[in-house]
Amino acid sequence: MIKKTITVALRPPCRIYIGPGALGDCRHLFDKEDLRQDIALVTTAAVHRLHGRDLLKQLRAADRRLLVLTVPDTEKSKSAHQALTLIKEITAFEGKKGLCLLAMGGGVVGDLTGFVASIYKRGTPYVQIPTTLLAQIDSSIGGKTAVDTAFGKNLIGSFYQPRFILSDTRLLSTLPLAERRNGLAEAVKYAAIEDPRLFAFIERDFRVLLKADPRSLAHLIARCAAIKAKLVSKDERDEKGIRAVLNFGHTFAHALEAASRYALSHGEAVSIGMVCACRLSEKQGWLCAETTQRVEGLLRQIGLPTSIGQIPIPAVMRAMQHDKKFNLGTNRFILLENIGKTRIERDICEPVIREVLRESAAAAS
Ligand SMILES: NC(=O)c1ccc[n+]([C@@H]2O[C@H](COP(=O)([O-])OP(=O)(O)OC[C@H]3O[C@@H](n4cnc5c(N)ncnc54)[C@H](O)[C@@H]3O)[C@@H](O)[C@H]2O)c1
Ligand SMILES: [Zn+2]
Repeated sequence: MIKKTITVALRPPCRIYIGPGALGDCRHLFDKEDLRQDIALVTTAAVHRLHGRDLLKQLRAADRRLLVLTVPDTEKSKSAHQALTLIKEITAFEGKKGLCLLAMGGGVVGDLTGFVASIYKRGTPYVQIPTTLLAQIDSSIGGKTAVDTAFGKNLIGSFYQPRFILSDTRLLSTLPLAERRNGLAEAVKYAAIEDPRLFAFIERDFRVLLKADPRSLAHLIARCAAIKAKLVSKDERDEKGIRAVLNFGHTFAHALEAASRYALSHGEAVSIGMVCACRLSEKQGWLCAETTQRVEGLLRQIGLPTSIGQIPIPAVMRAMQHDKKFNLGTNRFILLENIGKTRIERDICEPVIREVLRESAAAAS
């Protein structure tokens, strides 16, 4: 059942339908959004096995053809090669009624399908049914699509909004604990940058959230989705520094992911990255130590790492240099002044960053 509808206020608007059992409304939503084309579902074998049958039952209609395309369950599926493989298959499938793509899966499936939708015939409608917590609160919203290349992650991509997003919180009941933690890292991010009440809610409810309690999850997802929808509506193309606050912890995180050769998951790297960003802010005199401790304490209780551990600092610095190249030649950090209040700083000098990383490594022991 749909409990909450959130609108990303763009032209045209993109609606996010949230609730336990929301999948049951799928066919109705396709009709409501006037999507009457044949559907090519893109998913992974694992997600299809768990939830595909329920979805197909919903979508089957006498006058609509369905094609199921599965991609391997790995970040490697976000590739130009995989995108071309999908395009070959949908070209062979497409008939007179035209085509709508449907992504059912985590961020990998969502980013890849969105990318294909944006380039196939210069734009084909697509719908997102995110099945990880991270995808429900973050990656499915905002229209950033991408594939990775040997030269960098998410290097080729586009801004292309889905026609709608359907987040059924029940789908998360099958999600492994590590993936719930990864998603919660991003939820802590939203709370830290925008919403002290949400932060307090996660502090109080993280245990039931980790157990995938559908009611608590529905509240969390609706709140995070509303925050992202607001920021995206004001800055769809990430040009005004408004959407940029979503990168709290991410300057460190992207470098840590690369320096760990992707042994760290994105959520784990974001967790460590947020603590590093708090320490950096504290060093500059913008944040009090208690707030850093509060953020770190919550992430630890959730079971996320908060220290860079054994990851070599020179490798992290090199990865940051690489990022800098794509960022007008400067580094850019989203820092906290308090829970719910951010500031964007450029050109933080390297010795300070190194010092933060050294302290983070020392905190492991
Ligand atoms: N477009 C954006 O704005 C944006 C934002 C953040 C992240 N991303 C991208 O998202 C990707 C990461 O997404 P992710 O964390 O969802 O990872 P993912 O897509 O790899 O999914 C994680 C794992 O969960 C499994 N899974 C998915 N749904 C499940 C379910 N309901 N039950 C059981 N298992 C399930 C998948 O099979 C996979 O093994 C990265 O490629 C990242 O770059 C994009
Ligand atoms: Zn992230």
